[in-house]
Amino acid sequence: MIGSSILSIIYLVGSVTFILGLKMLSRPDTARKGNLVAAAGMLLAILGTIFLYRVNGEPLHNLGWIFAALAIGSIAGVSAARKVKMTAMPEMVSLFNGMGGACAALISIIEFAHYPLMDGMVVIMLLSLVIGAVSCAGSIIAYGKLAGKIKDFSFNGQHIVNLLILGAIVILSVLLFTGLSSAAVTALFYTICALSLVYGVLFVLPIGGADMPVVISLLNSFTGVAAACGGFLYDNPVMLTGGILVGSAGTILTILMCNAMNRSLKNVLIGSFGGATAAAGGGGEQGHYREISLSDTAVVLAYANKVIVVPGYGLAVAQAQHAVHELEKLLEDRGVTVKYAIHPVAGRMPGHMNVLLAEADVPYEKLLEMEDANNELATADAVLILGANDVVNPAAKTNPASPIYGMPILEVENAKAVIVNKRSMKPGYAGIENELFFQPKTSMLFGDARKVLQDLAAAVKEV
Ligand code: TAP
Repeated sequence: MIGSSILSIIYLVGSVTFILGLKMLSRPDTARKGNLVAAAGMLLAILGTIFLYRVNGEPLHNLGWIFAALAIGSIAGVSAARKVKMTAMPEMVSLFNGMGGACAALISIIEFAHYPLMDGMVVIMLLSLVIGAVSCAGSIIAYGKLAGKIKDFSFNGQHIVNLLILGAIVILSVLLFTGLSSAAVTALFYTICALSLVYGVLFVLPIGGADMPVVISLLNSFTGVAAACGGFLYDNPVMLTGGILVGSAGTILTILMCNAMNRSLKNVLIGSFGGATAAAGGGGEQGHYREISLSDTAVVLAYANKVIVVPGYGLAVAQAQHAVHELEKLLEDRGVTVKYAIHPVAGRMPGHMNVLLAEADVPYEKLLEMEDANNELATADAVLILGANDVVNPAAKTNPASPIYGMPILEVENAKAVIVNKRSMKPGYAGIENELFFQPKTSMLFGDARKVLQDLAAAVKEV
């Protein structure tokens, strides 16, 4: 009795830590602590369940198995998290999300045998099975695509096949309740599971290029809903709260990302953004580009009143966040105002640039969100683009045939001078040519971002 009261309090504390943690995650300066707070709440809830949960008055058995599984999961999770590069974070998030979906589906598979068919809980189990399996298979495919191990794949009529599979899942689920023999019910149940896995694979396979983060976020919200179903099933408030928080946060993030790219979710899911990239706007070079030397760049920056830096994926690859902060300080010491224009999908995950720059202690107030940046860019004497490409591609505004058409971009061409640092003329994530590089105002400064920034800092000191 006392145990169950303590467990209720533990679950309440756990739920509160999830909410507080999520709130703290919304600011770079509190995010790390927020993560720890929520993780501590999760640990408390897990230990409370293991030691205080009672099934028909009995404590949990198989503690050896439970702790062995916990140890294996913890070791795998900690070592993967320690090893992962910041640029590979979305892959890892996707893989972990897939594990969450798999857990939800496995819970349904295990519990299905324990409930009579007419129990209302079976509907929750089916939901958890279908959503969890879709999320698991879809997340693993998303992981493979982001890691470059799986290529985009689509065939004519794929969306119709997907709809047919969904229809079959619904019809088979209804058939379960029509008084079939128990062998037939079991066969149907596993067929529904298999179809859900196939649906997860087919649903994610054709989605490509820059739409992957939206899909990952959507799959994340699916896993949240599937976990919340588990919370219902076990009458476990902390699992329910956690699931609802993940589900709603994932949904909100999905909507925000769609808005940031000015695309509807339907368009993302059936528009095959990445699939069309090679054909639309990916053609040969669009003319001549101009190169600029390090010393000339140093002069342009040192004599500017205002410089706006546009960080992108390449800055993260080069790990040049400290180098850009050093350059910024040098320029500020000379009286130049330096700000950073942050595009919401620059890099490879939401908030990537914010996290990267926070790591180098770039003051938060120097970061301009896209809309504010676009209002300020015309007042900048120079824009320094560091390893960014798609997020400054004017084709998004000017070329209806471009796969990124409609995505809001940083309007860097409004500044007096545009200097682009990258290593070559290769395209960015969406695989398309960038006409900005060929415009008369633009100069290319080739090289690895970190080396270029270090050399630039030395050159600015000489000016
Ligand atoms: P990208 O368009 O991917 O361009 C990055 C550029 O960085 C490349 O053109 C590359 O050119 C250059 N680069 C790579 N390594 C470099 C290095 N060491 N030094 C200097 N430059 C280097 O990046 P972006 O402008 O940040 O746009 C992000 C793209 O990713 C968008 O299409 C977005 O939709 C997509 N995406 C975003 C997310 C989220 S949520 N942020 C997640 C997945 C995908 P070189 O090879 O010539 O150097």
